[in-house]
Order: sequence, then C-alpha cells, then structure tokens
Amino acid sequence: MKEINSNLMKIAFFSKKAQLVFFQKIIEDKLIFLNSLSHRYGIKFLLSLKSLPDVSLQELFLKYEIDFESSNLKEALPYNASHIFWFNPPFFDPEIKKKYPRAVVSLNQKKENLNGEYALRINTSFLGKNSRFGLYVEDINFLMDQKIKINGLHFHHGSEQNTNLDYKKMYLKALDLVKMFDLKEVKYINLGGGLHELTDTEIKELCSYLSKQEKKHQVIFEPGQYIFKNSGYLTTKILERREFGEDILLVTNASKLNHLNWSTPKLLHSGEEASTRKVKIYGPTCYEEDYLGCYEVSEEFAAHSMNEGDILLFSNISSYSANLNRSFNGIDKAEVHIVGSH
Ligand SMILES: Cc1ncc(COP(=O)(O)O)c(C=O)c1O
Repeated sequence: MKEINSNLMKIAFFSKKAQLVFFQKIIEDKLIFLNSLSHRYGIKFLLSLKSLPDVSLQELFLKYEIDFESSNLKEALPYNASHIFWFNPPFFDPEIKKKYPRAVVSLNQKKENLNGEYALRINTSFLGKNSRFGLYVEDINFLMDQKIKINGLHFHHGSEQNTNLDYKKMYLKALDLVKMFDLKEVKYINLGGGLHELTDTEIKELCSYLSKQEKKHQVIFEPGQYIFKNSGYLTTKILERREFGEDILLVTNASKLNHLNWSTPKLLHSGEEASTRKVKIYGPTCYEEDYLGCYEVSEEFAAHSMNEGDILLFSNISSYSANLNRSFNGIDKAEVHIVGSH
C-alpha cells in the first residue's frame, strides 16, 4: 500500500488533471491465476475489450494466453486481429464475418437469409432477470431452418450478483439446448462475464465443477471487471473548500460524471479515530449530481489534508471509467496511467 500511495502522489503532484491509475502488477496477478485455471481445468478465458483501460496492455493478456472478445469492428480495430476470438454484436453486422472469418460471431436476434457459421446468444431471463439481449427458444426454432452451422452457445448475464449457481444453470441450459435441437456442431459454451462478485476460491470451484462435466464442449468465460478489480485508483486535487453547517464541502478536479463512470470511489485516508467529520466531495462540472460521495474522516485529516491544492487519493476505480472518460462541460478528460508497464 505504501508503494502504491507514493506512486500515486508522484503522478498527482505535477498535474492539474484528474488521473486514473492502474497497477499492472495487480492485473498480472489475476492473469497468472486465470492462466493456472486454464491449464488445470481446460477453461478458456477471453478478455471483454470494452473493459480494457489501455490498448498497451494487450501484450500482457497474450502472454497469459488470453484472447479477446469484441462487440463490434471498431472496438476490435486497435487489437491484434488473429487474437479476436469472439464477437458479440448487439446488432447484426454482415461485415464482421467478412473481415474476421476465423472469429466466432454470436447472433443476438432472428435473421433471414443467413449462411455460414454462427454462435447463438441465449437470453438469460431463465435466471430471473429480464434482458433485452439474446434469443428465446422460438427464435432458435426459426434459425434452425436457415442454412447455418451453429458452432457455439453464448450467455452473458450482466448482473452484479451472479453466483456460481447462476453459471452452473447457464451451463446446464446450454446442454439442454444442445440436446433439444440436436446441435452436434456446437464446439463452445461461452458463459460470459460478470464474475467480479465471486471470490477466487469460488471461481476455482466453478472451473473444477465444469471440468468434471462432459468434455465435448470448450467452456469459455469472458470477464472484464473481475480482471481489473483492485488495480484502479484515482488521484485528484481540491479546487475549493466550503463549510456547510457541520459538513465540509469539497470541489475537486475529478468529476463523477466524466471520469468515474461505473466506479464507487473509496477515499484513502488515515482517519481511523473516533471523532469524525463528514466531507462531501463533488466534481467540477455544473451538474448538481456530479458527486463522488460523502466520506467520514478524522478532525485532523479534515483540518490538514483537505484544503485547496491538497491531493486526495481514491481506490476502487473500475477499468470501465477509463473507457467512459470524457470532457463534458469543458472539464479535461482524466489522464490514464498504467504503472509498471515497460
Ligand atoms: C457480452 C459481454 N461479455 C462480457 C462482458 C464483461 O462483463 P464484466 O465486466 O461484468 O465481466 C460484457 C460487459 O458488458 C459483455 O457485454
């Protein structure tokens, strides 16, 4: 933690902009773990590209045998084409198969006049949450009359509360569909992402369970957030301080709206003592809800470390914030740093 803090302070010191900082070592530890599961249990992991904070990290993923999943052609473009393993387009684009003939491409809706190989993205409402994505059984009936070869089944349940049981249900649903439609050409069962609330022990248990089932299909996961969990930080400077009743109000150069989408920043501070002050931290845009959160800190921290020009550090920053980073309202985008890359 000490080393992380001193790296963050160095980055923050000379800059006027908010900084989103990702530590490569923490990401790499996750990749080493996933790679060990791949070898032990025969599971394939893909990275969902929309979650990658910086294109420069692609080599690191390839080092640990992790290929890529993309939503569309533009997202895939900056990456090594031979490692785009799977496309999950939310709308049908015939160009994908022309440009990436070796990639698996999921169909997300009924289409006429198709030929070639496709995977099917299956609607996950059987898990109890409605989704606008994916095919229902009647749509599969329709597609069975087309001249297509079905090479994979794909699920992505975008829930924050997925458990091992949900993944097991998806897997068993895939086996049901294979049987129901006699899908002999299915090679891949892709269970998607959304693993970030699972512990490493749970993920290991899940992979072990899956490896003990039938061996005909290659099981795939395509996590995003899980891989970057605990690697992302924010550094910001205080632009203004006001007192409001009992509360302290701070405006910083980090905007929740522009720089912290899908993140719930946690303030790093030394205020563990009983006497606490409430500090409300805001972003610099003119949007009323540009609010990072309310934090409790010690009197001492509030008095000496929360004044104009002071640097504040936050953890728990999602890698998606780097991709959703923007400059609305004339506020500079955050700078994105990967610490530890060469
Ligand atoms: C199809 C698909 N797969 C994988 C992911 C990665 O999800 P997560 O970051 O929750 O693991 C996403 C994210 O939206 C997705 O849409």
